[in-house]
Amino acid sequence: MINSDNKATLSFSDGSPAVEFPVYKGTIGPDVIDIRKLYGSTGKFTYDPGFMSTAACNSSITYIDGDKGELLYRGYPIEQLAVNCDFLETCYLLLNGELPNAGQKKSFTDLVTKHTMVHEQMQFFFRGFRRDAHPMSVLVGTVGALASFYHDSLDITDPHHREVSAIRLIAKMPTLVAMAYKYSVGQPFVYPRNDLSYSANFMRMMFGTPCEEYKVNDVLVRALDRILILHADHEQNASTSTVRLAGSSGANPFACIAAGIACLWGPAHGGANEAALTMLQDIQKQGGVEKIGEFIKQVKDKNSNVKLMGFGHRVYKNYDPRAKLMRETCHEVLHELGLQNDPLFKLAMALEKIALEDDYFVQRKLYPNVDFYSGIVQSALGIPVSLFTGIFAMARTVGWIAQWNEMISDPEQKIGRPRQLFVGSPTRDVPPMTKRG
Ligand code: SDX
Repeated sequence: MINSDNKATLSFSDGSPAVEFPVYKGTIGPDVIDIRKLYGSTGKFTYDPGFMSTAACNSSITYIDGDKGELLYRGYPIEQLAVNCDFLETCYLLLNGELPNAGQKKSFTDLVTKHTMVHEQMQFFFRGFRRDAHPMSVLVGTVGALASFYHDSLDITDPHHREVSAIRLIAKMPTLVAMAYKYSVGQPFVYPRNDLSYSANFMRMMFGTPCEEYKVNDVLVRALDRILILHADHEQNASTSTVRLAGSSGANPFACIAAGIACLWGPAHGGANEAALTMLQDIQKQGGVEKIGEFIKQVKDKNSNVKLMGFGHRVYKNYDPRAKLMRETCHEVLHELGLQNDPLFKLAMALEKIALEDDYFVQRKLYPNVDFYSGIVQSALGIPVSLFTGIFAMARTVGWIAQWNEMISDPEQKIGRPRQLFVGSPTRDVPPMTKRG
C-alpha cells in the first residue's frame, strides 16, 4: 500500500469541522480513502449497502479490471493461465504468490494427491441426507464436519496448521463432491486413485463404478481442469468476503469454507450457473430460439422478476474474460463429443447475440459472466445441473483459503464488525399486557 500525496477532505454544510483522510495507491486499480478515523473524528459512519464503493481489505492475490474485462491471478492474465497451466499449478500460485517450478509442482501435486481420501466415518454423514438433498446442503454439512476429524490443524495462529488444512481442503473437496453425487444416484462411493491427475481423479470418482475400468478422456479432463482454473478466485466477491468475515472471528478453516459454500449457493452468486442452465432449458421447452424475443421482453419487465441468469456482474461492465474462455471450452467439449449441434449451446449463443444488441443490456453494461456457458460445458461432461455450484465450490476453495490466509497474516486485520444507520423505534417503555394494542 503506497501513501499518496493526495488527501481527501470531508466538509459538512452544517458547519461541523472539515476532516482530512489519507489516500492510498495500490500497484494497479483505484486508490482508496482511509476512513478508519471517520467515526472517531466525526461521530458519523459511511453508508454503503452492498459495499458498492468499499474496499474491505488490501490484497495481492487477484485483480479485476471491470471496464477492461481483465482478470489477473497474482499478476498473470487468466487467458494465459487457462492455456499454459493446470489447476494445481494455479492453486500453488494463488497460495504462494509464484508459479511452481517443476520440482515444486511435483511435490505440491504429490502432497495434494496423498490427502484426497476422507476419514472412513465421513460416509455416515451422507447417509443422514435424503437421496434428493441438494448437493450444496451436503457440502455445507460435510465440509463443516471435517473440523471434527482434524483437531491437529485447527490452530489458525500456527502457519503449519493453516498449510495442512489448506492442503486437506483442496484435496478432499473433489472426493466430497463426487460422494455427494454418488449418494444422490445410489451408486457406491468410488475411492480416489493416486495415479490419476486431480481432475482425472474427480471424473473417475464421479463416473467410475466397481463394475468396470473407468476410461479417462483427456479432452474432457482438460476441460474440467480449465473450468476449475477459471473459477479459482475472484477478488472480494460475496463468498470470499463471507470466508474472510468468518475467519476474522478466529473460526477454524473448515467452518470458514463451509460458510463460503453456503454463500456461494445463492442464485445471485455461484448458484447462477445452475439457474442459467435451467433458464436455457425452460426457453428450449417453450420453443427455443423463436421464444428468445418473448423471454427478453419478460426480463425487461421489472414486475416479472425474471433476470437473464449468467448475465451482469457487480464489477465487470465489459465481457467477463472467463465467459469467453468458457465458450471456447464449450466448443472443444461439444466437438469432442460430437454434440456441435447441441440445441442449448446454439440457444445460448443466439440469446447472447440478441442481448448484446439490445439497448436494455447495452445501457446497463450487462454482459455474459462466468456462469452463462459453464452450465452447458458441465452438462456435456455429464455433471448434473444440481452439482454445478458444487463444482464452483470445489474450484473456489483454493481462492477462499488463499484470501483467508492473507487476512490472518495481515497485521491490519481485526474482527469484521460493520455498523448501521438505525431507522427503528427510539427508546420506549414496555406497556403492561392490558395496555397492548
Ligand atoms: C458470480 O462478485 C463476483 O466476483 C462473483 C463471481 C465470482 O467469480 O465470484 O463473478 C461469480 O456470482 C457471477 C454473477 C452470477 N450471477 C448472475 O448471473 C445472476 C444474474 N445477475 C444479476 O443478479 C446481477 O447482475 C448481479 C447480482 C450479478 C450484479 O448485480 P448488481 O451489481 O447489484 O447490479 P444491479 O442488480 O444493481 O443491476 C443493475 C441493473 C438493474 O436494473 P435497473 O434497476 O438499473 O433498471 O441491471 C439490471 C438490474 O435490474 N440487471 C439485470 C441483470 N443483472 C442486472 N437485468 C436482467 N438480467 C440480469 N442478469
